[in-house]
Amino acid sequence: MRISREHDTRRFDSTVAKLRKRVSQRFMDRFVIQGGHHLSGTVTISGSKNTALPLMSAALLTDEPVQISNIPDLKDITTFSRVMAVTGTSVEYNRDNGTIRIDAGTLNNPVAPYELVKRMRASFYMLGALLGRVGKARVSLPGGCAWGPRPVGLHIDGLKAFGATIDLDQGYVVGSAPGDRLPGGIFKMEPSSVGATVNLLLAAVTAAGGSRIENAAIEPDVVVFSEMLQKMGAVIHGIGTPILEIEGVDKLSGGNFYNCSDRIELGTFMIAAAISGKPGDEIAMFNAEPRHLGDTFLDKFKETGAEIRTDGSTVYVKTPEKLSAVSVTTEIFPGFPTDLQAQWTVLLACCDGNGKVRETIYPDRFKHIPELRRMGINAIVVGDEVVVEGGGVFQGAQVMSTDLRASVSLVLAGMVASGTTYVQRVYHLDRGYENLEGKLAGLGARVVREQFDEWADPS
Ligand code: UD1
Repeated sequence: MRISREHDTRRFDSTVAKLRKRVSQRFMDRFVIQGGHHLSGTVTISGSKNTALPLMSAALLTDEPVQISNIPDLKDITTFSRVMAVTGTSVEYNRDNGTIRIDAGTLNNPVAPYELVKRMRASFYMLGALLGRVGKARVSLPGGCAWGPRPVGLHIDGLKAFGATIDLDQGYVVGSAPGDRLPGGIFKMEPSSVGATVNLLLAAVTAAGGSRIENAAIEPDVVVFSEMLQKMGAVIHGIGTPILEIEGVDKLSGGNFYNCSDRIELGTFMIAAAISGKPGDEIAMFNAEPRHLGDTFLDKFKETGAEIRTDGSTVYVKTPEKLSAVSVTTEIFPGFPTDLQAQWTVLLACCDGNGKVRETIYPDRFKHIPELRRMGINAIVVGDEVVVEGGGVFQGAQVMSTDLRASVSLVLAGMVASGTTYVQRVYHLDRGYENLEGKLAGLGARVVREQFDEWADPS
């Protein structure tokens, strides 16, 4: 009798949870885009999302307050702040000046719960940070991802190589260090991983001994993060190279730090300027760090015929009369960034001639293609490549966001399409683009956000 009542209660709770989720999903924001309006003017690039997350994690390694400026106002930042707060850390974000203040002096609960980790994979940085700070951690394993499997085996194998004991308990990774302090060790990662490099650095900088990471990621996110650790008192040799050597230190200190500018947002606006600017005119992008895009993107971009001029931290893009198709292959830094391939696909559709995008980092990352095809873009996925026919005339349509970068490619397509495009479920965009509609509207695009009833009867 008791068992069946408990069973009923569980079923009831689960039904209520499902209903709540459905109701909360009923009204969602969408973008309504009137295509065919030229962009012009200036835009300011926000702080980098992918760098902000490791920088915030670094603050967990010290019991002194840390302040980081140029933090973008994004859903991922809010989610990660909540993950950090679960540990007993105080996190205060000031929206007005983009500064975050983190005080992990009160950290007393080394846990990252499933409910939050499932929303953002980078929450897995908590594993390295908590092992580094208190020598123990209970962190939910992230689930799958919209564009296929994204393993964390390298994070775990690396931490084991540095002396952690790792067990799996009900979907959680439970890590511990002997005597609450990792001894350190040597780990070679294959392939090179941004996330695993960040996690291993977090764990190694306060280890009892030295560590070595071979084939470490050299993405700017990792470099800026390593430099912050250094300023906090960490000893890291080889920053910006694939071999990182770390001498563990007893203590790190807090202080004031600055986040770099978002290279993927910059690349996205550069592509927007190339396809949607007025031919012959320049669009200026302030607070930019173009070298963070890597030489391949910059070279390929120039090959299309778009011109780039840099003055300090301002990038000017001159829209060409016509764009030439340039094929790209995604690679680790300084190769073409995978986070810009969906946007590049739209650029190819606007070019003279046909081009290809080959994806080597995440071979399944093509969820945007069926949506772009609904707008009349002739793009076909063949294995790990997408072949794009240029010169097409595309039309507005109702399309659905599937992930962050896929969503922005739909927005770009909507800006050059004829008629109206409705991009549904823009909560994906809100994870990583700060005030995208405001910035595009400031450049002259006709983009508005509105609430949309996904259950509405179309009849
Ligand atoms: C980061 C970025 C993401 C970007 C990606 C690649 C953040 C928050 N996210 O993700 O926007 O698309 O870099 O530039 O910074 N791999 C393994 N085993 C692992 C970990 C990774 O095989 O344990 C593989 C992945 O499947 C992928 C490659 O390594 O093929 C690179 O992934 P990784 O650099 O780890 O990406 P993330 O850090 O998750």
